[in-house]
Amino acid sequence: VEQFFAPKLLQGQSILLTAGPTREAIDPVRYISNHSSGKMGFALAKMAAAMGANVTLVAGPVHLPTPAGVTRLDVESTQDMLNAVMQNVDNNKIFIGCAAVADYRIGEVAEDKIKKSAQNMQLALVRNPDILATVASHKPRPFTVGFAAETQDVEHYAKDKLIRKKLDMIAANDVSNPELGFNAEQNALKVIWADGQHDLPATDKLILARQLLTLIAEHVALLQD
Ligand code: CTP
Ligand code: CA
Repeated sequence: VEQFFAPKLLQGQSILLTAGPTREAIDPVRYISNHSSGKMGFALAKMAAAMGANVTLVAGPVHLPTPAGVTRLDVESTQDMLNAVMQNVDNNKIFIGCAAVADYRIGEVAEDKIKKSAQNMQLALVRNPDILATVASHKPRPFTVGFAAETQDVEHYAKDKLIRKKLDMIAANDVSNPELGFNAEQNALKVIWADGQHDLPATDKLILARQLLTLIAEHVALLQD
């Protein structure tokens, strides 16, 4: 049992989160995806509930238990994740896009298992919709927080995503360090908003979740005053 200090800063708030990877079918037995473990998103969901929020977690395929008090919606593809998010967006004041969403899907999913033949083969991919940008341009929009997974120029690319996707806040992590991010227990985040930023140094994902949610709670309170 984790005994941690979690002030109820999110009492009465409703938060919608995405976590984990998305999975795009190639044929009935194969898919493309990524190495996201879902740990950061699940830590955020768990901590948000502990801080008093009403939490809905849209989860890609991961093997993690549902945190206590959290409503979980399991999805596989990016389109399914987008649908689940847009069905719930109007009931939530805060959106955190933590999922590692597949940028592309297979153009035409084969109905039957693809048989091998030639030495080389190509898969034609098409761009997926951007869930985070779709939420940010929805009216009325929730306080919208994105993540940015980068291997270089972290601050530059994160600021670009903040502006381009019209986000309220972005949490950037440097995924070039194998000790942190994706599959690790720990993470470090550079949190950036329109007129400020805050570094959250490497620590356990649950502690980091509390720190990030505290920053979000402060900003949402500022907007409500
Ligand atoms: N995201 C999303 N829908 C997508 C792609 C990304 O909602 N189709 C969200 C992620 O959940 C994350 C943020 O956008 O919160 C940034 O994801 P990232 O992969 O870092 O950025 P991209 O915009 O996809 O750009 P790129 O992969 O080219 O760096
Ligand atoms: Ca991407």
